[in-house]
Amino acid sequence: MGERERWGTRVGLILAMAGNAVGLGNFLRFPVQAASNGGGAFMIPYFICFLLLGIPMMWVEWSIGRHGGVRNHSSTPGMMERIWDHPAAKYIGVMGLWGPLVVMTYYTYIESWSLGYTFFTGLGSYWGAAEFEPMVAFLRSYHGYSGLDLTAPGVGDVGITYFTSILPAYAFFIITLVVNIWILSKGVSGGIETIAKIAMPTLFVFAIVLVIRVLTLGTPDPALPDYSIATGMGFVWNPVPAALTSSSVWLAAAGQVFFTLSLGLGSIHCYASYLREKDDIALTGLTTAATNEFAEVVLGGTLAIPAAVAFFGLERTQELAGNGFDLAFAVMPTLFQQIPGGQLFGSLWFGLLFFAGITSSLAMGQPVMAFLQDEYGMTRQRAAIVLGGIVFALCQPVILFNQQGFLGEFDFWAGTFGLVLLATIEIILFAWVFGMDKGWQALTAGADMKVPIVFRYIIQFVTPAMLLVILGTWLFGTLPPVLANEPSALYPTGPVPEYIPFINAARLTMLALFVGLCGMVAYAWRNRSLEA
Ligand code: TRP
Repeated sequence: MGERERWGTRVGLILAMAGNAVGLGNFLRFPVQAASNGGGAFMIPYFICFLLLGIPMMWVEWSIGRHGGVRNHSSTPGMMERIWDHPAAKYIGVMGLWGPLVVMTYYTYIESWSLGYTFFTGLGSYWGAAEFEPMVAFLRSYHGYSGLDLTAPGVGDVGITYFTSILPAYAFFIITLVVNIWILSKGVSGGIETIAKIAMPTLFVFAIVLVIRVLTLGTPDPALPDYSIATGMGFVWNPVPAALTSSSVWLAAAGQVFFTLSLGLGSIHCYASYLREKDDIALTGLTTAATNEFAEVVLGGTLAIPAAVAFFGLERTQELAGNGFDLAFAVMPTLFQQIPGGQLFGSLWFGLLFFAGITSSLAMGQPVMAFLQDEYGMTRQRAAIVLGGIVFALCQPVILFNQQGFLGEFDFWAGTFGLVLLATIEIILFAWVFGMDKGWQALTAGADMKVPIVFRYIIQFVTPAMLLVILGTWLFGTLPPVLANEPSALYPTGPVPEYIPFINAARLTMLALFVGLCGMVAYAWRNRSLEA
């Protein structure tokens, strides 16, 4: 094991952290959450959750991360032990390996769709199918769904060629995974930071060009005055007070804040661990959170939903936007075909998604990289190969049984529930076990800004209380029907009976992974105590 890795420059760190947070969540998940939870009404719970959960958790995770990193731990098993001296602490930290690994598995796959679609759009492969139905069929055929009727009227007669196998999707996935692993093998500053310095500015340029294009769409069809950007923006921004009293809207808002800021997965901690003891985290953490919100609310909020409203109207958009993937990969391609320069703008859109995705998937890979390097003494190259092997194996069922629910299961348990679980436990450990005196010290040491003292009390009382309520709602409200295969948040009309074995297999896979990682932690710690 050589020198600890470090970020090269402060700008590089900010871009890498922003790259971690700014991802598919900003451009795909956010608009869908907003649209399906009351449009503008969603923004109020969203901002409150950002202030009372997002910023405090961000600071807590940076604090735990820098504190652990200074003590040679860049992954959460070791970090948790540094704030709670107890044999169970390292197993709580396992969640910070398991979560990013499970999320990386399906996230890299989605990222690979955007790579594929950048090409299909640039080449005009689906040009001619400027309706929603054939574009959905195109997407499902790309995903290798069975039981598609590709000859149906409006689908079979539009003159485009559909995919007849999963191989193209598989090939784009392999390319995406190899690129991710290769970058990770180059290290924190040589790989992740270098890529962030290229990808993040590019991403912002692409997004701003697209925002201008969307805002100038106006009213594409003068005969339909309600199909306009103005209506779309109004839908995203006009608050509907009724949604404020809906607990599901609040839960969705909290979940989105967590996902978009990459909280509760061990990933922020990991990036923060490559700082020195005296480096600022307060201002830098806040800056990256603010950057993410700009990308999410201003850029993400202006793109897909308003554009869809301008072409499909409000009602249809609400229907279509129920599925985020359909919005990005079927609705958007439909409208690219209706605007001049659509091939170019479409490639920019999918290129944007790819850049947003890759800077986040790297952040999901790094915790496991760090774990293998710090706790198993592996070289970067070897750690990268091991990580690549695990993700490759886990991805097989996600790719092959996407239709049967593998991807959705992974996203639900690790990408939605898992974050809340780890966040709740870690903030209690930080504020109450480690203690707020030491915690405040860990946050403010070296700080380039004065952290308002009110945040000390928010971190100590408000954030944990909110998280306990959210976790309670999950445990007693959301999860029981999911586990009982009843209609639930995950399967609104109940799971398809034939898919239940696949759903169970997905859950067992995740459970086995968790147990396996616990075993790896136990093994590393036992060897360490033998050495000592
Ligand atoms: N924040 C990322 C996005 O908006 C996704 C994400 C969620 C993430 N959890 C993460 C990224 C953990 C890195 C690590 O798309």
